[in-house]
Amino acid sequence: MTYVRAINTGVFDQAVASARHEPRGPPHAGGPVVCGSPAGLSETVRPHDQPPTSSMSVDSRDWLGIGGSCRPLAPRTSTRVTAGLHAVRVVLRRRVTAEHWIRYRIRLADVPPPAPDVRLTPVTDDVVAGLRGHPDRDANQLQSGLRFWDHGLRRAYVWIADDEPLCIQWLLTREDAPHVRELGDWAGMYPVLPTDCAQVENLHTFTGARRKGVATQFEYGLCAIARDAGFEDLVTHIHAENAAARGWAERMGWRPYGMITRYQLDLPVLRKYGLFLLGNGATVRATA
Ligand SMILES: CC(C)(COP(=O)(O)OP(=O)(O)OC[C@H]1O[C@@H](n2cnc3c(N)ncnc32)[C@H](O)[C@@H]1OP(=O)(O)O)[C@@H](O)C(=O)NCCC(=O)NCCS
Repeated sequence: MTYVRAINTGVFDQAVASARHEPRGPPHAGGPVVCGSPAGLSETVRPHDQPPTSSMSVDSRDWLGIGGSCRPLAPRTSTRVTAGLHAVRVVLRRRVTAEHWIRYRIRLADVPPPAPDVRLTPVTDDVVAGLRGHPDRDANQLQSGLRFWDHGLRRAYVWIADDEPLCIQWLLTREDAPHVRELGDWAGMYPVLPTDCAQVENLHTFTGARRKGVATQFEYGLCAIARDAGFEDLVTHIHAENAAARGWAERMGWRPYGMITRYQLDLPVLRKYGLFLLGNGATVRATA
């Protein structure tokens, strides 16, 4: 299987910079991002060891997602909605299920540069065609990423070495909101992003490349791309039961700042809709 490698990342960087109505980033952003080989990964300084810099630009509002839309809540409304959902859960205990994701954020200024020889390239149709035949094709996050692709979310990066994909992830910006809304019910998980903040989702390290620092180095590279494009912060969410991914994130320096809860009501008509409540810090402490 051959993956196309010679891709000009400058196209992506220009797209992001112009989407944000800002001048393009420094010249380095014009070529592939160069990171490190798995062999040298343990030498990398982790942002964990460094004091965080100034406060983040991440949105501090709570959001409510339903039927593909996701809208901010005024603090008072959020309190009422949270209390209402809690009451519904108590009353209809057997008919309401709740699933949780932890919201994480990272300040890009705190993330070290990637090691020297890892290359991230934008995903293309050719790469996607190769991935659809890859042995990992049924993996949950890869499936979800390919679904993003099919809905027009085309800003994704892959790290390929020796013609084998090692790691992949999608990068969303505020400009992607129209495509995100096409994700149907799951669109409720995605609030509109602040201008200075991007979101990464569907991280997948390919089988055989795991526990070698690949995802960490990949993410350093993606952080460098986002930083060069002018973003200040990244956010992501990870399923509360995904211990490996949470361990990875917290070791890399991602900080939990909130919780997404997906409620499903097993009642006629309503059972086909998921309802998402996206909360900030207090919710993490209450339910994590
Ligand atoms: C989570 C995932 C991306 C990690 O990729 P990876 O390349 O293996 O991660 P790294 O090698 O960079 O791991 C760095 C650290 O993360 C933690 N970690 C990674 N995998 C772990 C696991 N299975 N269990 C516990 N901790 C884990 C460890 O602290 C690890 O450091 P160590 O190996 O020195 O102990 C990978 O397991 C994966 O693709 N999982 C399936 C898809 C998924 O869950 N994606 C995340 C969705 S948000």
